[in-house]
Amino acid sequence: MNTLPGHPMVALCSALLFAGCSKALPTHDEATGGNPQQGRETIVRYGCGACHTIDGVPNARGLVGPPLVGIGERSYIGGHLPNTADNLEQWIKHPQRFDPQSAMPELGVTDADARDIVAYLLHQP
Ligand code: HEC
Repeated sequence: MNTLPGHPMVALCSALLFAGCSKALPTHDEATGGNPQQGRETIVRYGCGACHTIDGVPNARGLVGPPLVGIGERSYIGGHLPNTADNLEQWIKHPQRFDPQSAMPELGVTDADARDIVAYLLHQP
């Protein structure tokens, strides 16, 4: 493969590297139809970080709930709900419906906001 400087691949790779450094997130996620970039701001707006530690979200260092780092790799949500993008969305909108004893409150998260939040959680750095 041609690896001379100036080869188009070199330019592409350094563009991707820079994107990684500034934590640029995609604006569309296939699985949820949400916007990961928007999702990070939505997480800040709802104050999820008061209870959860979430990578890449400013001041999200709460320890009340489980850290949402690598949530995509976890098998169950809230200990019993199979972890799919759809179930994550439902949980974020209505945790009390799934687990009335959960310490996570209903926060009035809208459908669109839940999609963006899940999109971010699945793409977080
Ligand atoms: C008042 C504290 C509090 C706030 C605010 C809060 N959560 Fe939670 N969250 C919890 C607790 C406690 C749990 C564990 C619940 C359980 O297992 O029953 C939890 C569980 C979760 C889970 C499942 C994690 C797992 O591994 O099972 C997700 C996802 C989640 N929260 C996302 C969010 C999002 C997104 C927001 C903001 C819209 C948010 N939470 C706001 C306390 C909170």
